[in-house]
Amino acid sequence: MTPISARILGTGRALPDRVLTNDDLSKKVETSDAWINERTGIRERRILEEGLSTSDLAARAGLAAAQAAEIDPSQIDCIIVATVTPDQPMPAVAVTVQQKLGIKTNVPAFDISAACAGFLYGLSVADAFVRGGNFKRVLVVGVEILSRIVDWTDRNTCVLFGDGAGAAIIGPAQGDERGIISTHLFADGSQAGALNIPAGGSIEPTTSASVEARHHFVKMNGKVIFTHAVKNLSRAAQIALEHNHLQPSDISWVVAHQANLRILEAVSARVGIPLERFYLNIQKYGNTSSASIPIALDEAVRSGKIKRGDRLLLAALGAGLSWGSAVVRY
Ligand code: ACO
Repeated sequence: MTPISARILGTGRALPDRVLTNDDLSKKVETSDAWINERTGIRERRILEEGLSTSDLAARAGLAAAQAAEIDPSQIDCIIVATVTPDQPMPAVAVTVQQKLGIKTNVPAFDISAACAGFLYGLSVADAFVRGGNFKRVLVVGVEILSRIVDWTDRNTCVLFGDGAGAAIIGPAQGDERGIISTHLFADGSQAGALNIPAGGSIEPTTSASVEARHHFVKMNGKVIFTHAVKNLSRAAQIALEHNHLQPSDISWVVAHQANLRILEAVSARVGIPLERFYLNIQKYGNTSSASIPIALDEAVRSGKIKRGDRLLLAALGAGLSWGSAVVRY
């Protein structure tokens, strides 16, 4: 019997309408469009309106992916949501997405916490589920409402992040060349302190003191993250190429996590894939963590940049540290 392989059946995205520009931010904290753009490549980001939550955006992206895959949401047989900004600490966002999309109640639905690498982790799990033969329509969503967990008084972090959601439906390949060719996942907990939210968990439960100390917001050592991102993303990309006996010239598009243009420039130089073959949208959305790869993927597919048969290299790194890479024949 031919082994089952998995492919991306359809992609979708959902972005809030509200745009917050660098100039807008310079009215809140001491910063400037020039500083942010020069250091990161970011010009603006999207902010979700009050009253809406993570699962609203996730469901919108999931529905768009289901429509692109030409399936009804009721056909989805597993829901995986990658996020560090859930609606609530529990239950999982995935079960609310299940409700909002009218997906059957007898299918698994769970969240993955791997920060900016979350979509790649979810894709890898979905790939294994489909190859195992038990699932045929797995919804993987990367979604973040980071505007609700950044400290809007901290210019070191608040300029970097934005809100958004992206999604993909993963199902069996149809015997042609299209499919998820490889995934490689990594983690290094020794750097956990470089990017975290100190309070709100079991180490520092919520108290008035933890709120006063602003410990419920993202804290980051930008230089440490930058160094590890360049090194580990480059290595993960090289591992993906070596594993598949590919040369940099075999890759049609790199769809990498959009954290910082300078990180991607350095990865491009190290791996030997020109920046022109990196799909870039960081200027419009900033860092949307787990949502950034599926948003970029969907934009590139719908704009016609990524075409059927293109060989894609995906790569991401985030808090944990958690990172990984994947090669996909679209
Ligand atoms: N506007 C103006 N000045 C600022 C701002 C700002 N928004 N933020 C920091 N500064 C100041 C600092 O206070 C510091 O001033 P000081 O020297 O007087 O103390 C100075 O700018 C630091 O400048 P640089 O050293 O040039 O900053 P750097 O080049 O390290 O850039 C940055 C900072 C952009 C955060 C960079 O380290 C970075 O991108 N790191 C990666 C972080 C990242 O992407 N995190 C996202 C999550 S993880 C991921 O997705 C990979």
